[in-house]
Amino acid sequence: MERIRCDRAATWRGLQNLFTNAGQTFDLRRAFADDEGRFEAFSQSAPHIFADLSKNLIDRATQQLLFTLARQCGLEQHRAAMFSGAAVNNTEQRAVLHWLLRSPASSADGSDTLAGERAQVHTVLGAMLAYAQSVRADDAITDIVNIGIGGSDLGPQMAVLALDAFVLPGKRFHFVSNVDGHELAAVLQRLRPESTLFLIASKTFTTIETMTNAGSARDWFLREGGSDVGRHFAALTTNVAAAKAFGIHTTFGFWDWVGGRYSVWSAIGLPLAIAIGEQGFREFLAGAHDMDEHFRSAPLELNLPVRLALLDIWYRNFHHFTSRSIAPYHSALRRLPAYLQQLEMESNGKRVDAQGQALRFATAPVLWGEPGTNGQHAFFQMLHQGSDVVPVEFVAVTKPRHALPGHHELLLANVLAQAQALMVGQRDSGGHKNFPGNRPSTFLLLDELTPTTLGALIALQEHRVFVSGSLWGINSFDQWGVELGKVLAKDLQARLQTGDVSGLDGSTAGLLQRLR
Ligand code: F6P
Repeated sequence: MERIRCDRAATWRGLQNLFTNAGQTFDLRRAFADDEGRFEAFSQSAPHIFADLSKNLIDRATQQLLFTLARQCGLEQHRAAMFSGAAVNNTEQRAVLHWLLRSPASSADGSDTLAGERAQVHTVLGAMLAYAQSVRADDAITDIVNIGIGGSDLGPQMAVLALDAFVLPGKRFHFVSNVDGHELAAVLQRLRPESTLFLIASKTFTTIETMTNAGSARDWFLREGGSDVGRHFAALTTNVAAAKAFGIHTTFGFWDWVGGRYSVWSAIGLPLAIAIGEQGFREFLAGAHDMDEHFRSAPLELNLPVRLALLDIWYRNFHHFTSRSIAPYHSALRRLPAYLQQLEMESNGKRVDAQGQALRFATAPVLWGEPGTNGQHAFFQMLHQGSDVVPVEFVAVTKPRHALPGHHELLLANVLAQAQALMVGQRDSGGHKNFPGNRPSTFLLLDELTPTTLGALIALQEHRVFVSGSLWGINSFDQWGVELGKVLAKDLQARLQTGDVSGLDGSTAGLLQRLR
């Protein structure tokens, strides 16, 4: 498969010229005045999501050239490679098949080269959903504690919160990730062993934070009079042998071709399956599958993940914007920014290409955000009048799930107002009340927040990250950058006990001595 890095594609220079000659002075207000069809031309319907891209700093010619760039980079072939099961994760020689986790039990055309993997997926899915149903029916279990970190925490936590309206009454969900004992201690003090189920979630079953928390949870369970570890602990992991060695016999497996940050669709999604039930979890998978089919088959020009990623590249590599703010206007989506941080920054926060060669351009932006309207009363000042331009991604939901009069209209008025104010700005001769405007935003709209639409929203973001990583020429599916800190922490843990500072830099040595 021929992949051409974006800066080596013929169009890259053309885009640079376009930016210099027109892109950098592009004005959204003028663009709307000149083009009556701008909203239609720059909006895109995808399964379960409507996207308004028209408030972005882009014109039709630039967008066209970006599509050409994508084709020249071999995006379509790379996408096909991922969907064929090729070892797209080249540094670890692994296929990238998280999409298969939400694919139906039999393939559409019958010519299934992944039939073995597909069968395994559905065997585990069936077992895991049956277990979820049994926990739901078990009135003695009131508290479910997920112990995991990174992809083994952020996905299920984000989704359980987001789908709060669908969670079975009578069950409480807790997520413990941090090795900081304050977190686990605070949860444990509210629990009783006989009514608690611990889910130990770790792809590798070696992550030190998770192993430490799992060990402490088991100690607490036995100390507090718990007797049946088999009933009160289950493990979600690719390393079933290690889970068994830990003493857990209820295990749900997955495979090395599911990246941690792409694993909410696998056994890692068990807390969500317990929370919303088999049907809800299947709807979550189906919503994502609808987005997979869209990504796989829609022409680039009508492909929402592609269009979002091309904007990301335009902003990062030509406008040189360094961050993107996520503003979900639905309080249940409050962990979405944290989830997307791992998805995008762990996938595309790389400075070498898939062959290990240094890149001469920027990659993943910093992602950050808070739900609206709270963000408006915190950092939106900077978004409107600060010295940096930060593209904002609004996520709004048409229909609320509460009956409090007036609230939802006010919420929607606010999200519209913020996007409008960013773009339109305000002239004031005095300076302080001057809003420059022309600040870009994207508006993602879900009809309702349901398992189906949440699944589609998350799959959309996964594929968008794939596309930008593909054009940047990087491997979006490894994460070597997290390893060095793990090794050093091990060494420092021992030094904290002995006080040995030999060979350490002056600052680390000084701090270590103060900490002892
Ligand atoms: O350290 C980073 C990381 O490997 C993430 O990629 C992953 O989601 C997280 O740690 C947790 O890993 P595991 O599920 O193997 O415990």
